[in-house]
Parts: sequence; structure tokens; C-alpha cells
Amino acid sequence: MEYFNNKNLTKIGEGSFGTVYTNGRYAYKFVVSSDKMKLMREMRMFRRASKIGVAPPIPPGQKMSLKSIGNGEYVLRIVMKRLDGNVMKYAKIVGGNQAYSEIANLTSQLHLGGICHGDLYELDNIVHDGKRLYITDFSESTVFNNKRCMDQNALSSLQQKLSKVLISASSPKSKRRRGGLFGSPGSNMGSPNTPRRGSPPSAPVKSRAKRRI
Ligand SMILES: Nc1ncnc2c1ncn2[C@@H]1O[C@H](COP(=O)(O)OP(=O)(O)O)[C@@H](O)[C@H]1O
Ligand SMILES: [Mg+2]
Repeated sequence: MEYFNNKNLTKIGEGSFGTVYTNGRYAYKFVVSSDKMKLMREMRMFRRASKIGVAPPIPPGQKMSLKSIGNGEYVLRIVMKRLDGNVMKYAKIVGGNQAYSEIANLTSQLHLGGICHGDLYELDNIVHDGKRLYITDFSESTVFNNKRCMDQNALSSLQQKLSKVLISASSPKSKRRRGGLFGSPGSNMGSPNTPRRGSPPSAPVKSRAKRRI
């Protein structure tokens, strides 16, 4: 399949559902699944969240796609600005409390925009460019419902973790004004050789049983 054999793409992230690659400039998330509706929902939610400035920007002229690849399977391709996924690293630059308040703010914007993220426990779903945070990975997102959305619980546990993070001496605040990490070698994501949550080391992750609704 052409999208996985592209030699210009380097793997920079892997989650439970998708694999993220970069060409040095943009990040491409591929998700393969037979659950077309789920993929459509992720695409719709990501687009909406990006529009309101919460999810990573979709570069101008770049389009997401959802295609059938046979055998009842589909591939979703999301193109976005390439960022850095380590929210802890960002917290060391601005301080844990500041990082938390940005996350809380972004989450409120999402909710106001009608989206419940649904997977904010995962630190890697919070990405940054050295200047600000973005929330990504809308694979678990649903239409916001105040009674059912668990984001607030995730925020409480994030707050606890982040409140302990102090500004690191090796990360002076001035560092974050240096310009975006977009495409810079230092912005590489967590090692591609470090699979998360039981993901296989290579090959795109096929859809698994739903973790939760
Ligand atoms: N725009 C991006 N730039 C850099 N890395 C990213 C970007 N988007 C996602 N990633 C990394 O790839 C990982 C997997 O992407 P994610 O959307 O969370 O997939 P999954 O649905 O499989 O969890 C993320 O946890 C993050 O570390
Ligand atoms: Mg994820």
C-alpha cells in the first residue's frame, strides 16, 4: 500500500489505533479499521477541533482522506502540523501549573465546541510546538454530553501529575520563544522504537476492539 511504503516518511508516534509518520514538515496519522463509522467520527471531530484551534492545525491545501482498501477495511489519513507529543517536556519549560491551565482551557473550548475528547488520560495525546499545547487523537471522541463526558476526571489526574513539574533549569523560558519546533530535528516525537500500550513495533495498527465508548 502506497501510504505505508513511502520512503520519505519516518515513524514518529504510535498509539492504540493509529501510526503517525512525518516527512519532516507535516505529520500524517494513518488508522486502518473495518469500522468506517468510527473513522468518519474521528475525521469529523479532528477537523472541528482543529478549526477551533484545539487540535493541531491542518496545513493549508492538505486534506484528510478516508478510503476503502478492500476486504471491508478502510484507511483514514489525517494530515496536520508536526508537533512534539511530550507534554511533560512542555511542562518543564513553562511549569506544570501553567501547562495544566492551558490543557483545562483547551478542554473547555472543546466542550463548548460540542466535543468530548474521551482519552485525556493519555499524556501523549497532548502535543506542543514549544509555544503552546494542542490536544490530539480524537479516536475516542463523542458529542459532548455533560453527564457522560469523563474529561473532567482525566483533568483532575493530569492536574495532580503536572502540579509536581517545576520549570527545569535546562529549559529557560526564553527557549520557548525561539520559534516553532515545526519540522526541526529536535522536535522528534518519542522514539519510534518505543511502542505504547502494547502496540506492535512496526506496521500500522489494525483496529482493535473498542476500549470504551
Ligand atoms: N501532529 C503530531 N506531531 C507529532 N507527533 C504526533 C502528532 N500527532 C500525534 N503524534 C504522536 O503520535 C502518537 C499516536 O497518535 P494518536 O493520534 O494518539 O494515535 P492513537 O489513536 O493510535 O492513539 C501520539 O500519541 C503522539 O505522540
Ligand atoms: Mg493516542
